[in-house]
Amino acid sequence: MASKRVLLIIGGGIAAYKCLELARRLGERGIGVRAVMTKAAQAFITPLSVGAITRERVFTDLFSLEEERDIGHIRLSREADLVVVAPATADLLAKMAGGHADDLASAVLLATDKPVLAAPAMNPRMWQHPATRRNVSQLKADGVHFVGPNVGEMAEPDEAGPGRMAEPLEIAAEIEELLEGRRSHPLRRRADPVRRADRSEFGQRRPLEGRHVLVTSGPTYEPIDPVRYIANRSSGRQGHAIAAAAARAGARVTLVSGPVALPQPAGVTVLKVETANEMLAAALGALPADIAICAAAVADWRVAQAATAKIKKAGSGAPKLTLVENPDILKRLAAGGKDRPVLVIGFAAETENVVQQAKRKLKAKGCDWIVANDVSAASGVMGGERNQVHLVTPQGVESWPEMDKSAVAERLIARAAERLAQRAADA
Ligand code: CTP
Repeated sequence: MASKRVLLIIGGGIAAYKCLELARRLGERGIGVRAVMTKAAQAFITPLSVGAITRERVFTDLFSLEEERDIGHIRLSREADLVVVAPATADLLAKMAGGHADDLASAVLLATDKPVLAAPAMNPRMWQHPATRRNVSQLKADGVHFVGPNVGEMAEPDEAGPGRMAEPLEIAAEIEELLEGRRSHPLRRRADPVRRADRSEFGQRRPLEGRHVLVTSGPTYEPIDPVRYIANRSSGRQGHAIAAAAARAGARVTLVSGPVALPQPAGVTVLKVETANEMLAAALGALPADIAICAAAVADWRVAQAATAKIKKAGSGAPKLTLVENPDILKRLAAGGKDRPVLVIGFAAETENVVQQAKRKLKAKGCDWIVANDVSAASGVMGGERNQVHLVTPQGVESWPEMDKSAVAERLIARAAERLAQRAADA
């Protein structure tokens, strides 16, 4: 990373302050940062504070003789390895989608020949407005990468929903992925060619050719302080096996994975995350998808305010943790909207009344199928190689015999492919 450089375009939103932290995090990773600020951004933070962190001159004006003579907007747009727009406001996204160039930020974005990553931040209604949806689709088609927005509380009281800018660490992780060349065009991300020997049950058939499958897998880690976290038990084996099976079936696969000790499946694009919020942002950023399969064991709660320094036990007794609920990724993916995958599949890990609980969850989550399994200690499923599941659909319940997790994965993917083919035939 040492010689990599990012051009950070700071837009005018309340989240601009997070760019100071982002610049610091990139600096820690040895990534050079040069900043451009829009006029509106300067209403939130000053070029002086940005320059103090980036240790570089901050550029603000397209029509400044001095800035143009010094480096010029064309050079500015070309000298970085990656251009990052954060916060990408609704207005900035509209300008980018429309190809405007009436200030330094938009002119640089129009002139650049480098990959661009946008971290949107705006009020949820603005994010959901048809104009913004249109602009985001256009920008994705143009090859712009996105990170976030996350779901959560807004600066305005009583406003919540998608629109919070991704956290600096999430953006930094995305930047590292892009700088390492691990991501290609957002709509044309092709998985590596799948090795023939890996095709097993699907043989030469590739029933998911041309389809995009999104899989969540593994646990999430919710920080308490820099050394402690809350997590669910999950090895990620079932989710990773599903991603691998989908790739063998010919799909382009995005696997959003929490921390696991597993190799990356062949032919799959893996987005590594830690927290539920990061998992949600990565999953939404990967849309559109034909099939979404949520196999992750997402922690239901996170600590409202993780401590920035290690909590010491000396004297004051056990700390009181305030927990807040995490976003439900499955529910979000299953919610209506034009980006809803055709088939949304959830898992229900239960310790009693497995099928009954799964039927309840199918309704509560709004998904199409639930794969239910017994994770009581006696079942040995957690961390094990084998699984016995029930496929719960609105049409009924199928109980599959106990089999390897990879066999469960292949059978599920084969069923999902059939369902898509059926839908296509009905349409
Ligand atoms: N899930 C998710 N996001 C969450 C919680 C769960 O996407 N924040 C998904 C899981 O990946 C799984 C399904 O929802 O596909 C069921 O998760 P589970 O934890 O069993 O359900 P809960 O909603 O937590 O219900 P309960 O705690 O009552 O069992």
